Amino acid sequence: MSTPALGRSRSRAEARLKVTGGARYAYERPLDGIAYGWIVGATVARGTITAIDTEPARSAPGVIDVLTHENAPRLQPDVDSELEALQSPKVAFRGQPVALVVAATLEEAREAARLVEVTYDADEHRVVLREDGPRLYEPDDDLQPSFRGEPEAAWSAAPVSIEASYRTPAEHNNPMEPHATTAVWADGTLTLYDSTQGPSTTRDTIAPLFGLDDDAVRIHNEHVGGGFGSKGTPRINAVLAGQAAKATGRPVKLAVTRQQMFDLTGYRTPTIQTLRLGAERDGRLTSIAHHAIGQTAATPGFLEPTTMPTRVLYAAPHRRSSQQVAALDVPSPSWFRAPGRCPGTFALETAMDELAVACDLDPIELRVRNEPEVDPETGVRFSSRGLVACLREGAERFGWANRDPRPGVRRRGRKLVGTGVASATYPASRSPAEAVARAHPDGRFEVGVGASDIGTGARTVLGQIAADALGVDADLIDVHVGDSALPDGPVAGDSAGTASWGSAVHGACRALREQLPADAPAPSAPVEAVWDTTDEIEAEDDWSRHAFGAHFAEVEVDVDTGEIRVTRLLGVFACGRILNPRTARSQFVGGLTMGIGMALLEETTTDERYGDFLNHDLAQYHVPVNADVLDVQATWIDEDDRHLNPMGSKGIGEIGIVGSPAAIGNAVFHATGARFRELPLRPDRVLQALGAVNP
Ligand code: MOS
Repeated sequence: MSTPALGRSRSRAEARLKVTGGARYAYERPLDGIAYGWIVGATVARGTITAIDTEPARSAPGVIDVLTHENAPRLQPDVDSELEALQSPKVAFRGQPVALVVAATLEEAREAARLVEVTYDADEHRVVLREDGPRLYEPDDDLQPSFRGEPEAAWSAAPVSIEASYRTPAEHNNPMEPHATTAVWADGTLTLYDSTQGPSTTRDTIAPLFGLDDDAVRIHNEHVGGGFGSKGTPRINAVLAGQAAKATGRPVKLAVTRQQMFDLTGYRTPTIQTLRLGAERDGRLTSIAHHAIGQTAATPGFLEPTTMPTRVLYAAPHRRSSQQVAALDVPSPSWFRAPGRCPGTFALETAMDELAVACDLDPIELRVRNEPEVDPETGVRFSSRGLVACLREGAERFGWANRDPRPGVRRRGRKLVGTGVASATYPASRSPAEAVARAHPDGRFEVGVGASDIGTGARTVLGQIAADALGVDADLIDVHVGDSALPDGPVAGDSAGTASWGSAVHGACRALREQLPADAPAPSAPVEAVWDTTDEIEAEDDWSRHAFGAHFAEVEVDVDTGEIRVTRLLGVFACGRILNPRTARSQFVGGLTMGIGMALLEETTTDERYGDFLNHDLAQYHVPVNADVLDVQATWIDEDDRHLNPMGSKGIGEIGIVGSPAAIGNAVFHATGARFRELPLRPDRVLQALGAVNP
């Protein structure tokens, strides 16, 4: 019997390949006769193309073809209209691809793209989200409003009440690897090397779009340089590359530039949120009401579940959560690490801090007093709930005990110092997946699942899961992911990848183990087993399954420049069993770091006049760099939750970002006495607020 692999730190299986440059990404496939694509984007936000002159581009050196709506390969209408590349003269958002130049070199494609002349009949556009509209509606899906009791009456009658409005900006995912595809069309089949978070799901979308059977499309994504949700659905680069390969008969590479990513690969919707909290004087909530407004595209795309954390975090007999969305002339927002739940938690957890001040109560104690017995929305039991344990553990580690609650009284030189706390939660779910496991006569094992390792360590942890299910050493396992020809797996998303793929890998390995001779070290011929988790997931008991966390921040606020430094950031998490501490810590720390970005830096501004995002590169869209990230710590409490999956794990990819913006904002209040209800906490906003507090 080998030492269990799960629960132990293990280096990434592909670490050496990555640091030596041996890992191939989507754009790096060496293929004969390769051609290069370059996207031409619309220069109006809404309208119709009346003329498109491609002759100058076609005459330019090296140009092989120029695809437009007049000549591009036809696609089948899709549920996601944004993928219907070059099918109509209509323009729905600025930057939408209106032509694709294909040339022998990247430089020639780029130069010729400049020569494509497009004439538009432009319509008026609406691109700015406002609480009074236009085009606001209530979505009729699982974001339906949820009511219990009489939230408005209870709020009006409460001895202590809070009402405040919060705003978060649009944010753009900026994974290190921009979106890219290499496409090969041969004998009626399409092969895509694509930078995606899901090979099976990308195939499921791309095949019908091209009118192909599933088995005529193959997606490879062996290595992916990050995604954060922006690669959770296929992007238009995959479609355009496929069209270009089909039209030209050559393999085509297409990279979305960093600037084009701001139009083409999704973003987090801006939000306008209103919180009403009613409480007894001792802090016990009587009423919680949370309303959120977000935006989507004119043809509805993705809608963020902004108010969801409010349905889980605290007890209160009277409650409401509701959402509206505005259909604007913008690209559709999409997944961005902890979609909805992260901006929603910023509003809720800032409001809770405001309530703590109003009740003259320690903010941790306030949260402990509102701990629910069961899921406060559904009445269902929690499979495990570690929020209070995380708050207590964090308080201990962070040194919360002697905190002076008065705001604006601590200084280090010119800097005001404060600390803040916020809770976090994220669902612990899993989706159906299939996996294969194979034993070889040489004593080694292979497992395969249509998973994606987008830099998280998924490949590594799946090997650990397989090793323990087989009862062998993890070094004996070869893991195959990143290929749609493998058994189907869901997307690397919603913090559910490891739980979903891992359940299937576990099942396949258990089944394989039963087929192997108990007394022999290896079979005389390869033995294989497959497993599909659909039935076991359908048979699950009803539990409310969520991860929890507590975030603690210490900030210094420069009273002269308005600059905020996060001097300490601590996250304590209750995420079931931690399967690989090294890669888990890296996920948590990454989430916390992204929370610093959300709190202080990240913001995409809409240009009302021209209808697109004004700042669309890393010079103007700021993410935290090393100098912004000081002392960031992640730790966890042990949980033994038998109601999740065979590994006992909860997702860890997103909860790290969920509470950190509110914890940082609450620390800034504690430092300065100024309450910030709009992100990011820019120096100009800080200076203005400090002027108001200390005129
Ligand atoms: Mo995550 S935003 O579900 O990839």
